[in-house]
This record gives sequence, C-alpha cells and structure tokens, in this order.
Amino acid sequence: MAAPPARARADYDYLIKLLLIGDSGVGKSCLLLRFSDGSFTTSFITTIGIDFKIRTIELDGKRIKLQIWDTAGQERFRTITTAYYRGAMGILLVYDVTDESSFNKQHASDNVNKILVGNKADMDESKRAVPTSKGQALADEYGIKFFETSAKTNLNVEQVFFSIARDIKQRLADTDSRAEPTTIKINQLDTASGTGNLAQKSACCGS
Ligand code: GTP
Repeated sequence: MAAPPARARADYDYLIKLLLIGDSGVGKSCLLLRFSDGSFTTSFITTIGIDFKIRTIELDGKRIKLQIWDTAGQERFRTITTAYYRGAMGILLVYDVTDESSFNKQHASDNVNKILVGNKADMDESKRAVPTSKGQALADEYGIKFFETSAKTNLNVEQVFFSIARDIKQRLADTDSRAEPTTIKINQLDTASGTGNLAQKSACCGS
C-alpha cells in the first residue's frame, strides 16, 4: 500500500497551547517576537485583542509544536482575552521588573502549568522596582518556576519557553500512560447508523 501523503502525517508529537498574560507594556509581545522570530523592537504597538505565533521545538527527541497566544494587557480587551484562558495548557505570568503595579496584579489559576516571568531585566538597576527576591518569593508561594528575562538582550527567553514546555510535556506523557484503552468507547458506538452516544442522548430527550 502506498504511504500516505506527507501532509497527512502530523508534523509534531505534542501540540502545546501557551498563553502570555500581564499588564499592558510589560513586554509580552516582545518576548513572543524574540522567541518566535529572534527579533526585538523598541516601538510599542499595543496588542488589540489577541494574537498568536507558532514555534516547533525539540525536547528529548519529541517535536513539540508551541502555539503561543499573546493577549492584550489593556483592560478594555479583558472580556476577549479571558475567553482564551480555557484552552491554555500553560500560562506565562509576565510583569515588568521596573513597574511594581504590574507585579502586584499577578494571580494564579488552577489546572494549568504556570511560570512567573519578570521581564526587562536589562534595565538599569536604578529603574528597578521589583527585586529578584520578591519575584522568587511570589513564585515559591505559588509553587511555580521563576525567571527574570529580557526580550531586548535575549536573557532567559528560550529558558522560559523550554521550561514550561518540558513540564507540560511531562504532564501530558504521564496522563497518556495512565489513560484507559479506547476500545471500550469504540464498542459503545452504534456502528450501523454511524452515530454514537451523542445521537442516542438527543433521541432520548426528544430534542
Ligand atoms: P500590550 O500589547 O499592550 O499588552 O503590551 P505588551 O506587554 O505586549 O508590551 P510590548 O511587548 O509591546 O512592549 C512594550 C514596550 O516595552 C516596548 O516599547 C518594548 O520595546 C519594551 N520592552 C519589551 N521588552 C523589553 C525588555 O526586555 N527590555 C526593555 N528595555 N524594553 C522592553
């Protein structure tokens, strides 16, 4: 039998959806641009709503496709951006080390891997408002990892994305190995009509 066409085969082993959240201006878009394109710009073009970029990395011989969503930090887009939280497997909580209010607004959410990111670590020490120890203490309180980064100088940018991707891949691999065989679900299908439980349910309820 002929091999399936190349495009029919998945070009990755894991698809991981990540989300960047944090105040407007902390550098979320710049971190993403640095990671996905290797570039940096000093001009500030605020994100409208939501945007995403893809980069495929390799971890332990597996191809991990990272789909990274960049949310708008501005309050007026909050209803749009929070709608995207649901599908995320990992969240990067980003603040600006020179802006204390961006740090104070960090919060945790459950059932998803998180990582705390203090960006703009390249800035002059005289501008610093959040000491490294304070970032580390918050991360310890949440029980999550912490990195100080610079999208400008590329400090720790790869490390942040690789670290969260590694943790999520591990979590997915653990879940996979514990999963029940799928044969039971297949047997439940009404193979004659080609429909499954969903159709039976709607029939029983008269809708
Ligand atoms: P919203 O889209 O409004 O949520 O903002 P954002 O968090 O995406 O911020 P953005 O990435 O657009 O960066 C805001 C400003 O900070 C820009 O002028 C960037 O050049 C600057 N900036 C971002 N990262 C760094 C960094 O690591 N170091 C320095 N010095 N400036 C940075």
